Amino acid sequence: MPSTPPEGQPAPPDGRLPAAALAGLGERGFSIYVHVPFCASRCGYCDFNTYTAAELGAAPGARQRDYLAAVNAELDLAAKVLGVPPRVQSIFFGGGTPTVLPAADLAGLLTAITGRFDLSPGAEITTEANPESVDGEYLEVLAGAGFNRLSLGMQSARTNVLALLERQHTPGRVAEVVAQARAAGFGSISLDLIYGTPGEAEDDWRASLESVIAMAPEHVSAYSLTIEDGTRLAARVSRGELPGIDPDEQADRYQLAEELLTSAGYANYETSNWARPGHECRHNLAYWHNDDWWGAGPGAHSHVGGVRWWNVRHPRTYAARLGQGESPAEAREILEPDERHVERVMLALRLAEGLPLDELSADERQRAAAKVADGVAEFRDDRLVLTATGRLLADHVIRGVLGY
Ligand SMILES: C[S@@+](CC[C@H](N)C(=O)[O-])C[C@H]1O[C@@H](n2cnc3c(N)ncnc32)[C@H](O)[C@@H]1O
Ligand code: SF4
Repeated sequence: MPSTPPEGQPAPPDGRLPAAALAGLGERGFSIYVHVPFCASRCGYCDFNTYTAAELGAAPGARQRDYLAAVNAELDLAAKVLGVPPRVQSIFFGGGTPTVLPAADLAGLLTAITGRFDLSPGAEITTEANPESVDGEYLEVLAGAGFNRLSLGMQSARTNVLALLERQHTPGRVAEVVAQARAAGFGSISLDLIYGTPGEAEDDWRASLESVIAMAPEHVSAYSLTIEDGTRLAARVSRGELPGIDPDEQADRYQLAEELLTSAGYANYETSNWARPGHECRHNLAYWHNDDWWGAGPGAHSHVGGVRWWNVRHPRTYAARLGQGESPAEAREILEPDERHVERVMLALRLAEGLPLDELSADERQRAAAKVADGVAEFRDDRLVLTATGRLLADHVIRGVLGY
């Protein structure tokens, strides 16, 4: 979820959507995201929409129980606005740290969704978790409630890197949680890694990848560290206390990830994501395929039939809006066909499956041919697909195809 929402048009207070956006609802895939904006402490590199208890205080509207009531109210609004609720193919609880809530609260929120929406058979139901925030008993409650996928923020196997990132877990905790999740019945586990942390040596990164492979999760996300303005990490870099990001080093790290993960049986299916066959994250694929989804919670983004909207960010404002019977949407944008095309190209080219050539205009096809000649893309089965080198320069290559 972007930390700074785009400018938009006013969103109607009753949350109503244009008839054109609702046409075909249910024929496209539909997913639900729940944003849980709480963390026990804030990591120095993170600028996601999340708050510690100290930042929120005890004022009405900011407490966890106000949040739970407000999300329930937003789910009521979603069911009303969508009319005949579409079947849900995936549900994703993200944050923040969803697992700072008691397990029974996450189970209750899942029941609140399934009470209002039918699930597709075998729907993917994920929660993100921090390794220090869960134990075996907690995970059993989640599995019993229907969660079938766990996405764990591991980040690194090295203590020095975890300390610099200001993470709260020890390296060994991740393997314990993976074992507890398996015992609880989770058949799909994803581990998140970050590479390029200042001071991280190539050996640290190799050790992290080897540690992930030894734990045998079904899915791995590896993100290049971004130094976000306004974070403690950005302040340390700008004071000269820490070196900044070196793009060549990041590229080497990415290539090592690709090499080790591919040899261990994972396939890269999106720039930053690798999976064993059949374990690609369906929820994230729904975003990349530009399906419909409703994002509930403070700051959450939604998309239905070319209309995008995003909620007010602060939990207190969010709860206040819903308490008054109003939509929590802060603003929205209705995408024109050319904007939808640009989005489609940008999202599809980040995927290993690429983009069907017949979706490109004649000019775009010509520019794509130039990228193929440069070795950063290739034509495969009437589709345009980025090569491994192209993935390293994904934004640049995609902008080139679009003519920006
Ligand atoms: C926002 S977190 C939410 C889940 C959970 N709290 C955690 O930390 O794993 C989702 C992922 O985004 C990553 N992330 C956050 N800020 C980032 C940054 N500046 N650069 C790269 N990855 C980042 C986190 O490390 C984490 O793996
Ligand atoms: S725990 Fe996750 S969401 Fe919370 S501050 Fe750290 S990276 Fe951000």
